[in-house]
Amino acid sequence: MQLLSNYLKHHDTDLELVELIDTLMIACKEIALQLREGALAGVLGTTEDTNVQGETQKKLDVIANDVLKKVLLDNPLVRGLASEEEDDPVFGNPEGRYLVTFDPLDGSSNIDINVSVGTIFSILEVPEGATEDNVDMFLQAGRKQVASGYVLYGPSAVLTLTTGQGVNMFTLAHTGDFLLTRENVQIPTQTKEFAINMSNHRFWEPQMRNYIDDLLKGAEGPRGKNYNMRWIASMVAEVHRVLTRGGLFTYPWDSRDPSKPGKLRLMYEGNPMSLLIEQAGGLSTTCYSDILDVEPEHIHQRVAVALGSKEEVDALHGYHCK
Ligand code: AHG
Ligand code: MN
Ligand code: MN
Ligand code: MN
Repeated sequence: MQLLSNYLKHHDTDLELVELIDTLMIACKEIALQLREGALAGVLGTTEDTNVQGETQKKLDVIANDVLKKVLLDNPLVRGLASEEEDDPVFGNPEGRYLVTFDPLDGSSNIDINVSVGTIFSILEVPEGATEDNVDMFLQAGRKQVASGYVLYGPSAVLTLTTGQGVNMFTLAHTGDFLLTRENVQIPTQTKEFAINMSNHRFWEPQMRNYIDDLLKGAEGPRGKNYNMRWIASMVAEVHRVLTRGGLFTYPWDSRDPSKPGKLRLMYEGNPMSLLIEQAGGLSTTCYSDILDVEPEHIHQRVAVALGSKEEVDALHGYHCK
């Protein structure tokens, strides 16, 4: 089995990018260890603080953020980072080549019930001529990402990574190495499985309600299939399932907060996951257009997300763009 860094080097990945990904994995291994200890390490439960999104921070949201921040800022390749748990970007080496955005702990409502969570990351290059440290350098469309991925902390810890040449999975071994366990992941084009928080049904747009209602009609309905449903409430775990056996995952716009385009965040949830999904032959949309083409205006900008098996995402898109 191949080591992560050897695999990347053998596939002509820029050596500085390999080094940056290795750095990220140092942090993710530490997070995996803390999660494994759980209550024994006193890391469960919430803090008294809220993040910039108004969410109560779990202790592990803060711990994971601090580990990633420290490890990344120690690497001179890093010009800056932006995180769900940081109000503003944090800058490192002014000569650094890369920007990293991350969701330190995704699915954090699952921490205290010992269900899968993850870390999501996106890597961008500093645009040419960006001399001043400011947030603008981060505001690049998802297509500009040079790499993205997540680490799922489940029964095993799995890194799923793209550097723009397909998607590969690496499992964390007891030796502390990430070893290649699945190469060139391809999402099945068809599916009978969908994931959505059904409790928001009454808040969705009519188009989304019509689409889901048709799925629920099963083999007798217009889609002609009996669908199954899953909802883990960890985007990382849902995307991992979609990459592994196909499916559709969506967190659409809803009217609980009409001013926001969706719940999930573009720069460290929507974009990195969309690159993985596209690189694995799936599709990813806001329901109206490709997520990777959205021009960001804010670091914590939200986005409606629907992603997964190509034919199913195409069908969903059809309900929205008739
Ligand atoms: P985070 O824990 O990083 O704030 O993200 C949670 C997100 C995402 O992982 C998941 O798909 C969704 O929130 C779950 O939301 P609901 O609790 O509304 O179902
Ligand atoms: Mn959160
Ligand atoms: Mn998240
Ligand atoms: Mn999070």
